[in-house]
Amino acid sequence: MFKINCMNAIANVGLDLFTDNYELVDNFNDTNAVIVRSSSVHDLELPPSLVAIARAGAGVNNIPLDKCAESGVVVFNTPGANANGVKEMVIASLIIAARNIVGGVNWVNSCGPDPEVAKLVEKKKSKFVGKEIKGRKLGVIGLGAVGVLVANAANKLDMEVYGYDPFISVDAAWNLSKYIKHSKSLDEIFRECDFITVHVPSTDETKGMFNNETFEIMKDGVVILNFSRDTLVRDEDMIEALGSGKVGSYVTDFPNPMVCGVEGVITIPHLGASTSESEDNCAVMAVRQLMDYLENGNIRNS
Ligand code: MLT
Repeated sequence: MFKINCMNAIANVGLDLFTDNYELVDNFNDTNAVIVRSSSVHDLELPPSLVAIARAGAGVNNIPLDKCAESGVVVFNTPGANANGVKEMVIASLIIAARNIVGGVNWVNSCGPDPEVAKLVEKKKSKFVGKEIKGRKLGVIGLGAVGVLVANAANKLDMEVYGYDPFISVDAAWNLSKYIKHSKSLDEIFRECDFITVHVPSTDETKGMFNNETFEIMKDGVVILNFSRDTLVRDEDMIEALGSGKVGSYVTDFPNPMVCGVEGVITIPHLGASTSESEDNCAVMAVRQLMDYLENGNIRNS
């Protein structure tokens, strides 16, 4: 009998897959495997009974990877399982930012039940004139599961798509070349693009990649979308770049007190992958990975 702790992480559709060989336990102390979504495992003592942690999502920054490696705990994630949910959110956010929708909606709401609101709108709406995304340049940094879907969708919306990923395979690059222009350097993306969306993990190399130096080479008024991790952006530099107009708008899926409420920032409460479909897909993949590992010793990331 394997004991599984779910840390409120997974959809019922995943739990249904567990056979009678599994028991769901609340207690972390004698669990054999953990499934976690966004809660942090960093401060928890890993019990000797623990052999695997499955992250129902792509990022693994809430899991103490070094501690797990030392203790022989295998860590799984579910790459691609929520990619469509994130892609749809990125495209929606891109249009929301380009069309000043948040500013417009906030202003209408601030009018309250004013009977003159329709007349006021006619006077005010010139302040919210937006830009169409057709023909504009979108830079996609990171061409993994999410980046590729975003690039494809943006291409279908007639954007000119630039992609950058130093780790992409030749085959994948060839397929993508039908609808994106491969950039040889990040600088090219920074220099050329009107919109930049980032889909890379938070690592020592990517932390703080949006900073004064990189803002410097970007176009004035560039829109930056961050559905990766907030560590990729140096907050104080972003605030300065928003203030000077270098960055026109910053959409972030990570509520961060440093930038929340700053003019030009659209903060989304980590909803990128919060769809019932994405949650189900992640749960199913995580449960299958764990069962295959616990029963057959197989390690897989699909
Ligand atoms: C992920 O790592 O997959 C995303 O942050 C989405 C999420 O976990 O909600």
